[in-house]
Amino acid sequence: MACKALCFGLICIIFAYYIYAPMPENIEEPWKVGLIDAAIKTTSFVCMLTEYMGLIRKDQVFATLVKVDYTSPVSDSNITVTDTIFSGSPVRLYLPKRKSDSRRPAVIYIHGGAFVLGSFKLKCYDYLNRWTANTLDAVVVAVDYRLSPEYQFPVPLEDVISAVKFFLQDEILAAYGVDPTRICISGDSSGGTLAATITHLVQNDAEFKNKFKAQALLYPVLQIVDLLLPSYQEHQHGPILPRKMGIEMGSLYISKDKALTQAMILNNHMPLESRHLLTLVNWSTLLPENYKKNHLYTEPVLSSNSSYPQLLNSSLSPLLASDSQLQNVPLTYVLTCEHDILRDDGLIYITRLRNLGLKVSHDHIEDGVHGALSFTRFPFYLRMGMKVKEKYIRWLKENL
Ligand SMILES: *[C@@H]1O[C@H](CO)[C@@H](O)[C@H](O)[C@H]1NC(C)=O
Ligand SMILES: *[C@@H]1O[C@H](CO)[C@@H](O)[C@H](O)[C@H]1NC(C)=O
Ligand SMILES: *[C@@H]1O[C@H](CO)[C@@H](O)[C@H](O)[C@H]1NC(C)=O
Ligand SMILES: *[C@@H]1O[C@H](CO)[C@@H](O)[C@H](O)[C@H]1NC(C)=O
Repeated sequence: MACKALCFGLICIIFAYYIYAPMPENIEEPWKVGLIDAAIKTTSFVCMLTEYMGLIRKDQVFATLVKVDYTSPVSDSNITVTDTIFSGSPVRLYLPKRKSDSRRPAVIYIHGGAFVLGSFKLKCYDYLNRWTANTLDAVVVAVDYRLSPEYQFPVPLEDVISAVKFFLQDEILAAYGVDPTRICISGDSSGGTLAATITHLVQNDAEFKNKFKAQALLYPVLQIVDLLLPSYQEHQHGPILPRKMGIEMGSLYISKDKALTQAMILNNHMPLESRHLLTLVNWSTLLPENYKKNHLYTEPVLSSNSSYPQLLNSSLSPLLASDSQLQNVPLTYVLTCEHDILRDDGLIYITRLRNLGLKVSHDHIEDGVHGALSFTRFPFYLRMGMKVKEKYIRWLKENL
């Protein structure tokens, strides 16, 4: 009893400490963002303690908490919702009920969660995908994949590829009444990594006859080569996604080895052999002037340790794709949030595509935080989340 009271008191003190962390000035609903931010940081801190005591891993606690928010497939008057399997991978399908004389567009949606948590079953994704299907009169396919650290790169990627490959077959598209020339692949955060990687693959591989018309990347992770971009420096303490927490979770996609996490935090994880690739993510040349501010460019310090050759792979860091691979990228939408360590990943990708003469639409949310789309349902409701949803849907409506 005394122990429980002590723990509760301790958690309250930690929460109070975090709630007083200053919020960026221009943020809408600062107290709500502050509450969510403090809740995440407190959970993270308590998890660190329990992990340290050898009780339970941090990612397991987060994954368990997130599952509370799952919802089962429920059809409504407009949309039939079902869970099924596409070539071994779980998918949730949203099929419009109204009659249509022509074939429909389709959106493949890949959820975020740093590769360690999340599912299309989360209420926020179910809501978004249902909304997409209804507003666009589109078929929506939400894909799940096995999660890290149990399943590491490239397993999650391959899970999604196999579902995408299955769906893109002529006879499957025909069965769902989908127009093969109007398919978009979308994803947020780490789902954006997978969406961009799969776009690069599908557009360049002759094995895929049906290509994407568009890709939509919502505050995507597009590289783990340089973890000290200006946005990583400016927003290292959050809100929502502090740099250290992001790296701790994200590094599990590659390995459970704490030495790798440590090297990534110090930004000296990339092996010597990657020197020639640094120019592909050089923010000094690829970031628009107004985001460089007074930051000074320093190259990541390279490591003589080559235990992780996958760090050089463009399927892990889509920004490592060469210009010739990017050349075939379809119409692209990128949404970035100002108060987000991943802001510059999106901005650099936009520059790379535009340098090749490709068409990119960009929405930048000046008061936005990472994961905004996850905050569209009670009790985590932010107007900003609805704003991001509206912008994404508007772009799809006009372009798909
Ligand atoms: C069904 O679609 C109509 C027209 O778009 C909309 O007004 C209605 O709210 C939708 N119903 C549901 C349950 O989403
Ligand atoms: C190389 O990195 C691996 C994983 O981080 C680590 O286990 C190993 O000790 C490192 N080797 C050297 C020589 O630093
Ligand atoms: C990055 O860009 C700066 C400025 O253009 C340049 O001086 C530097 O050599 C570049 N570094 C790499 C690794 O591309
Ligand atoms: C990158 O990883 C993918 C997935 O494992 C693999 O198929 C591909 O061969 C790798 N590319 C290189 C250059 O190693």
